[in-house]
Amino acid sequence: MKCLTVIGARPQFIKAAPVSRAFAAAGIEQVLVHTGQHYDFEMSEVFFQELEIPPPRHSLGLGGGTHGAMTGRMLEGIEKILSEDRPDWVLVYGDTNSTLAGALAAAKLHIPVCHVESGLRSWNRRMPEEINRVLTDHVSNRLFCSSELAVENLRREGITAGVEMVGDVMADTNKLAQEVVAGRSAEFWKAANPDMLADEFALLTLHRAENTDDPVRFRALVEQLNSLNIQVVFPVHPRTRKALLREELSLGDHIVTIDPVGYLEMVLLLDQARLVLTDSGGLQKEAYWGKTPCLTLRTETEWVETVEAGWNVVLGDEVESLANLVAESEPPASWEPLYGDGNAAGRIVAALSI
Ligand code: UD1
Ligand code: UDP
Repeated sequence: MKCLTVIGARPQFIKAAPVSRAFAAAGIEQVLVHTGQHYDFEMSEVFFQELEIPPPRHSLGLGGGTHGAMTGRMLEGIEKILSEDRPDWVLVYGDTNSTLAGALAAAKLHIPVCHVESGLRSWNRRMPEEINRVLTDHVSNRLFCSSELAVENLRREGITAGVEMVGDVMADTNKLAQEVVAGRSAEFWKAANPDMLADEFALLTLHRAENTDDPVRFRALVEQLNSLNIQVVFPVHPRTRKALLREELSLGDHIVTIDPVGYLEMVLLLDQARLVLTDSGGLQKEAYWGKTPCLTLRTETEWVETVEAGWNVVLGDEVESLANLVAESEPPASWEPLYGDGNAAGRIVAALSI
């Protein structure tokens, strides 16, 4: 069996790491295709190095541009590789433009598609990610879900064949990274630059288009963040760096901006943070696994179980309430495991091997 995996954006490297290991352990040939959607060292290569992902066999270098232009270039590039390589499966992760391009190229060539992190829904079709994940699910043959709710979401759309609840592959990566960091924490702490950290800080990530590309909402968010009475550590995504320049916004001195960090540094920062402020999908789960309260800077979330558990609050439209929500944030008394046991990758590879 040969499986061709299409990845291209930061969260996909993090998701692919344990699955690549599981393929190697099972002796199954895996061809990695990197679309190049993310291309800076700290958005791409650092994850290959830290998480020991094998180098991609094909690097397409197709990042940048509008959604249509980027997805179109990827479709063309992936189609060419698939026509020559003819894998038994094409594996895609999550909900980026790379996900959709990989799934669509394969489906049109009648190559079975396997979607990892299938069935997530925000029910907000203005999000590019929602379009990407709905379309990908509907052309997929095997749909691996992180939660029972995702399975139910698919059922509501008439998709039941090939659906399997395996748990979340990010839990696998998180578990692995915790073990690595535990053994080498001094080394990674040095990279995370502990001198800049106050005793108590909030970890911030912000990059979603519905925040950065809406000038009114983006300005309101920055104003609220500037008014916080806690140090904020902010690894800045390239999209956000551009948006701050474009809107001529500056950040308060209590907001320590750094370049995006590798996954192991992120695990350390998360471990020390009092609170996570984020519009990222992955970080909401990682905050939960690390028992750190999270304020999600969006109008809805796909990871509703974390909200129901009391560990995640969704900001919504009332951006002005951000500072109060931060001040009031407290870890709840109880915590139950969510999104699997950290062995999702093994289940995926086993399911594809049958
Ligand atoms: C993409 C995904 C989003 C995901 C995020 C993860 C889509 C539609 N969106 O958003 O779901 O949460 O990745 O981080 O696929 N850029 C650089 N250097 C890089 C990468 C990007 O400068 O290494 C710049 C690009 O040129 C572009 C901007 O950042 O101007 C946005 O990149 P893009 O890949 O279009 O979208 P993301 O916001 O990263
Ligand atoms: N992440 C990281 N370094 C950073 C910011 C995020 O390693 O500077 C990790 C984060 O821990 C999570 C993943 O990137 O595992 C989330 O990716 P991102 O927020 O880019 O995308 P999303 O999850 O929103 O699709």
